[in-house]
Amino acid sequence: MRREVVLLQKMNHPNIVKLIEAFETDSHVYLVMENVAGGSLHSYLKEMINKQLDEEEARRIFYQILIALKYCHSKCIAHRDIKLENILLDEHKNVKLIDFGFSTCIPNHKKIRMFCGTPSYMAPQIVSKVEYAGPPADIWATGVLLYALLNGCFPFRGQTDDDLYRRIKRGTYHIYNQKVTREYLDILQRCLDVNDDTRPTAQDLLDDQWFKIEDIKARAYDEEKRQFKARILAKVPIIKKTNHTICILA
Ligand SMILES: Nc1ncnc2c1ncn2[C@@H]1O[C@H](COP(=O)(O)OP(=O)(O)O)[C@@H](O)[C@H]1O
Ligand SMILES: [Mg+2]
Repeated sequence: MRREVVLLQKMNHPNIVKLIEAFETDSHVYLVMENVAGGSLHSYLKEMINKQLDEEEARRIFYQILIALKYCHSKCIAHRDIKLENILLDEHKNVKLIDFGFSTCIPNHKKIRMFCGTPSYMAPQIVSKVEYAGPPADIWATGVLLYALLNGCFPFRGQTDDDLYRRIKRGTYHIYNQKVTREYLDILQRCLDVNDDTRPTAQDLLDDQWFKIEDIKARAYDEEKRQFKARILAKVPIIKKTNHTICILA
């Protein structure tokens, strides 16, 4: 708890919760924080149909998470518990990163031995119990979160922890949402790179093509058309026909 206070005192960023004051009694440590009124990203997602956001909104939120992470990493702070529950939204649906209870402040390149976090979000290095650098582990967790924002479930699931960890180490996942853009799939793949040496930094991701698409809806529609045509050429039966997919045949 005291470490969380020390780390929060070092930070001043619009997408990170502000610590106003901290004090302790014999039995308790009290943290007075700005009140973030919009609830967590976890509860926001639960209100959505299929627990999915549309890609434009996911992109806006993910961008803010990356800005917050870039700031943390620039101060050599690794969050180590990035997940939907630890992202709060203010009244304008802007991101506030909370819960630095697992966080650590060590030089970015220095490897960590403490294997902590939330199982579904743990990077392959953590579940393999090999020493890992903090920032790339945060990036992996944001990849898991990015997957969840558009697919309504986690990329890696298992009947047991061992089963889950095996799937994380393999790093393969299935995309359920057929309407996402190629750029989304590419940035997701970059985040969920099992090799932490080649996994991008927060800044690398902020420069990604996904953030440069001008009209995501039009791009997603083009991708849907492309898939539809490919299926016709491959003679794969089209199960779902919507008005606009029928138009392509004409
Ligand atoms: N600044 C805040 N404003 C509003 N709610 C908050 C704030 N900080 C924490 N909470 C609420 O309290 C919960 C637990 O806080 P958190 O810091 O994540 O602790 P824990 O280590 O128990 O997960 C959060 O999921 C959130 O619902
Ligand atoms: Mg929490």
